[in-house]
Amino acid sequence: MRIALAYSGGLDTSVLIKWLQEKYNADVITVTLDVGQKEDLNAIAKKAESLGVLKHYSLDTKNEFVKNYVFPAIKANALYEGKYPVSTALSRPLIAEKLVEIAKKEDANFIAHGCTGKGNDQVRIEVTAKAIAPEISVIAPVREWNMDREAEINFAKKHGIPVPVTTKKPYSIDQNLWGRSIECGILEDPAKEPPEDVFEWTTSPEKAPDKPEYLSLEFENGVPKAVNEEIMDPVSLIDYINVVAGRNGVGRIDHIEDRLIGIKSREVYECPAATVILEAHKDLEKLVLTRHEVSFKQQVDTLWTNLVYTGLWKDPLKDDLEAFIETTQLRLNGKVKLKLYKGGLQVVGRTSPNSLYDMDLATYDIKTTFNQLSSAGFIELWGLPTRVANALKQKKVAKNNVEST
Ligand code: ARG
Repeated sequence: MRIALAYSGGLDTSVLIKWLQEKYNADVITVTLDVGQKEDLNAIAKKAESLGVLKHYSLDTKNEFVKNYVFPAIKANALYEGKYPVSTALSRPLIAEKLVEIAKKEDANFIAHGCTGKGNDQVRIEVTAKAIAPEISVIAPVREWNMDREAEINFAKKHGIPVPVTTKKPYSIDQNLWGRSIECGILEDPAKEPPEDVFEWTTSPEKAPDKPEYLSLEFENGVPKAVNEEIMDPVSLIDYINVVAGRNGVGRIDHIEDRLIGIKSREVYECPAATVILEAHKDLEKLVLTRHEVSFKQQVDTLWTNLVYTGLWKDPLKDDLEAFIETTQLRLNGKVKLKLYKGGLQVVGRTSPNSLYDMDLATYDIKTTFNQLSSAGFIELWGLPTRVANALKQKKVAKNNVEST
């Protein structure tokens, strides 16, 4: 029996290798994706090999991740429950896709992952894998093995798996180019402020520079293309904005999140680049799209984001929504200027060749071609239904007053 396992190099998935080998007498093939998590992929490969895997795959998927997963999220202004840029959620379908690809290549009928039974990630990986390869079975040992931290450490020691010595930072971390999620430990108490040591990508606003920093972000067809007039490849561009926004304390998120399976959870994230790019993108849309498009798109964006958060990356509705989103983005060209200062982020300017802003119309200067007299007739008709309804209401009140005297 052969199993392709999504391997992070951490304790859980390292224990998983041995557990799968032992329980199923299986050959384990480990797969690690580089989605910009900034970890030593060679060290992870060595660790997998030292645990006796049949084969290990390290895949650099940073470009693919940005172009096929992050870019659509930018176009959809994706913020789950108005706060979370779905960073982890975006990486899961890609992981599922690659696991299936490797499983097929290696003649494995099983894939395995280290997600718990309480979270969203199990759903995202399994629904996607099943949608593209129904013939492959999924094993999710963490859901069934019922090991607590201590049992896991004992199991690890028995099997020569290196155990991290730091008990000081008991956090569960997931990171990729679009953001960093921090869970567990003290963070599970939603009343307590996150301690400073949970943050790694962002300076605390108090310690951020005393001078504001500006960014000019250029968009082409809805996605960022250049920063401060310099064209960059998508991965470097996001990396760069993560650094600039991070050092200005921008991108910290702390909110109560509704998990798909119905549990409320306290989530803490650092998403500097996502926060900046989404803010700029949304602003540019308001300059370029009509008010009807903006208001309809908000609904489409929310639907898109909910599908992605809830693991339905492969649902046809997502393609349908994207067909609409794509048309709107064809005009989404232009530049947005942002000011970053001690944790604050402000759009302070925007331009576009497709701007619908008309100075002649907008100005309060009286030298304008707009005929103010036409507004009188407009108000007459605009308020008509409201006036009719209020007239009736007043008639009824008057009638009741007469009857009760
Ligand atoms: N709550 C976030 C989400 O569902 C973050 C999940 C983090 N996952 C993890 N395996 N640490 O997308």
